[in-house]
Amino acid sequence: MIDLAFSILAADFTRLGEEIATAQRGGGTVVHVDVMDGHFVPNITFGPPVVAAVRKVTRLPLDCHLMIEDPDRYIPDFAKAGADWLLVHQEVCRHLHRTLTSIREHGMQPAVVINPATPVETLIEVLPLVHHVLVMTVNPGFGGQSFIPRCVEKVRHLADLRKELGLNYRIEVDGGIAKDTVSAVVEAGADLLVSGSAIFQPGKTEENAREFLQVAKG
Ligand code: DX5
Ligand code: ZN
Repeated sequence: MIDLAFSILAADFTRLGEEIATAQRGGGTVVHVDVMDGHFVPNITFGPPVVAAVRKVTRLPLDCHLMIEDPDRYIPDFAKAGADWLLVHQEVCRHLHRTLTSIREHGMQPAVVINPATPVETLIEVLPLVHHVLVMTVNPGFGGQSFIPRCVEKVRHLADLRKELGLNYRIEVDGGIAKDTVSAVVEAGADLLVSGSAIFQPGKTEENAREFLQVAKG
């Protein structure tokens, strides 16, 4: 199954509820929420209060991508806000196994993210624990950046490992995913597709989502 996880970072924040409804009408099935702290990444976005507000307007799964240092501190807050899936970066977790276990204990599905410079091998020991693995296809921090083609091989590697190890985690990609890049990642094994700036555009969001999915599903 292919899911479009539309990133609300590219939406009009003054009309977030309508923007989510429009992307959903176009076929979007997951809400991707980019949380940035100004430390792990240069940019600052939003946190649990916005997740709680989004929770009130949609029943779609909330895929909360934490680009923050010390994510352990905020696990209870995101659980309370209504996050379904909580993603932490491998690069900031000193005790990754503990963090992922704690996310599950708080009633959410744990997922792990790797930056373009982080190899898949760093995840081998935690793959049985995760609901999905997110392969960043840009360096995190901003929407609208260019896709890094080399990252496709990491998607393929994760798909091979999934088979080899008999696991069933999903593979997500994030950054520069649009009609011209999506086929390569789907072919390599990605099935959770994050897209922001290629989806949200005044008056064109629904159509963009529909066309994106048409290309993604071949
Ligand atoms: C980047 C974020 C992405 C971003 C994707 O740090 O993690 O989720 O919103 O935006 P696009 O689709 O514009 O690259
Ligand atoms: Zn993201």
